[in-house]
Parts: sequence; C-alpha cells; structure tokens
Amino acid sequence: MRDILSGNIARYRKELGYTQETIAEKLGVTFQAVSKWETGQTIPDTTLLPPLAGILGISIDKLLGYSAFQSDISYYEENYQKNEYYWGIQPSMMCLKVLELLPPVKRYKLLDVGCGEGKDAVFFARCGYDVSAFDISEAGLEKTKRLADYAKVTVNTFRANIWDYRLDEHVDVIYSSGVLHYIKPELRDEIMADYKMHINENGITAFQVFVEKPFIAAAPEKEAHSHYWKSGQLSYYFHDWYFEHCTETVFDCNSSGIPHKHADNRLFARNNSTG
Ligand SMILES: C[S@@+](CC[C@H](N)C(=O)[O-])C[C@H]1O[C@@H](n2cnc3c(N)ncnc32)[C@H](O)[C@@H]1O
Repeated sequence: MRDILSGNIARYRKELGYTQETIAEKLGVTFQAVSKWETGQTIPDTTLLPPLAGILGISIDKLLGYSAFQSDISYYEENYQKNEYYWGIQPSMMCLKVLELLPPVKRYKLLDVGCGEGKDAVFFARCGYDVSAFDISEAGLEKTKRLADYAKVTVNTFRANIWDYRLDEHVDVIYSSGVLHYIKPELRDEIMADYKMHINENGITAFQVFVEKPFIAAAPEKEAHSHYWKSGQLSYYFHDWYFEHCTETVFDCNSSGIPHKHADNRLFARNNSTG
C-alpha cells in the first residue's frame, strides 16, 4: 500500500507538472514532507488525503490504488495459490534472446511486467541482471519470491496494476510475456510512451503480445477484460527503434487443459535513438 501511495503521489504530481513545493504550499506542509511521502519514508496524515487527492485531480481510492486492484483480480490468482507452479519454473525462450541481445556483462536493470510466478524474472536474476518485477497477483508475487529464495537471488517484487504503473527510473530492459493485452486500448499510447521514455540508450524491450486473427477462435481462458493486439500494432509503437527480432507466430497451447491456438507477436526492439 505504502509503495503504491508514494508512487501515485509522485506520478500524478508530475503529470500535472507540479513541483513538490507546489503541493506542499497548497497543503500547508513542508516540501520535505512531500518528498518523504514520495520516497515512501512516511505517509500523509489521513486528514490530508482528501485535499491531496483533490489537488492531484483523482479520487482517494485511486490515490490509494484501490480501484485498480478491486476491479481486476487476476484470473490466475486461484491457480497461483496452489503449491505447484502453473507456468512451471523453466524460463521462456524469450529470455535467451534477451541474453543474446544484452548479455549481462554488467548488472543491467531489467523490469519484468506481469511476472506471474516469476520463472523468467528469477532466471534473469540468476544470470546477473538487477531485476524488478511486478504483477497484479499477490499469490504470483509470493511464488516469485519463493523461487528467488530457492535460487538464492534477489528479485525486487511489487504489486501493481499495469494500467496504473509508470516507471520512475530508467532501466535497460523491459520484458513482458503474455501480459500487455491487459492494457486497456485507451491506455496503450500512454503506457508504451512511458516504457520507451524510460529505456536507456542501447537498452531493449522484449515483448510478447497476443494478436487477434480472424481464423483463430478465442482461447478458453480469454478474459473479458483482455484486449488482444492487432497485427503490426506493437511494431507501430517502436517504428523508430531498431528491430533486433520480430516474429508473428501461431502456436498450440494447452494451458487450461483444453487444446487451443494462439497467435502472438514477439518484438525485441533496441533504443538506438541517439545512434
Ligand atoms: C499469461 S500470465 C503471464 C505470466 C508471466 N509473464 C509468464 O510468462 O509466466 C499473465 C499475467 O498477467 C498478470 N496480470 C493480469 N492483469 C494484470 C494487470 N492489470 N496488471 C498487472 N498484471 C496483470 C496476471 O496475474 C498473470 O500473472
């Protein structure tokens, strides 16, 4: 909760172009107090939450991160609560591509968006990346931590909704497998712009998204709030980056115990904007 609150104060303040001093002045507190809220060292007094939310132009629920979580509990939560790993513990082949494109010759910062039970995040940490990973599922994050402990590595896990989360520091890799279809279409432009803006020069995105194809029936586990991508849509967002690897494939899946097909687009794009 504290992480979400501090992140939201910083995020919505910056979106409005306010400085910490502006917020402090409006609330009658010191800017050091605002700075401490944003770094999570302290939290605002409850009497300050209504005026703070008002200044930031959002509801108190949104400030506290409630609305997002309550409206969208992960379909996978129940499966993640079981002892066995729903997605297994072997990393995706996509991880190997990341290793090839940005070998961990130093502790590159990597963010795993929607890490699930952590098979990929833990693999990256074992390889020497400095890994942060978030998911909406508490149970998935618990399992990620458990897997990391077992492998004796650290993954900085935190709970967030992809709709609300925005980066506040630069990273070298943003990795996401099978998650970006949870972004509401109207938020895609903003979120993709945020990801692009926070990748260091020469850094990469490694994204796998599900793609709509008229000849493929909806998957049995397709949730009402998932929004498959159109062919080429992901490439459009990164058209000005260097494409290291881009594929669109149809593959068989059995994840729900019912054989079905998916179409996916995998894009590994490099930020060589200054090159
Ligand atoms: C298909 S699983 C992929 C998990 C993991 N990336 C992997 O490949 O093993 C999709 C993940 O997205 C997470 N998820 C669903 N909606 C989300 C949201 N709004 N914000 C963040 N994560 C979300 C689910 O909890 C789930 O772990």
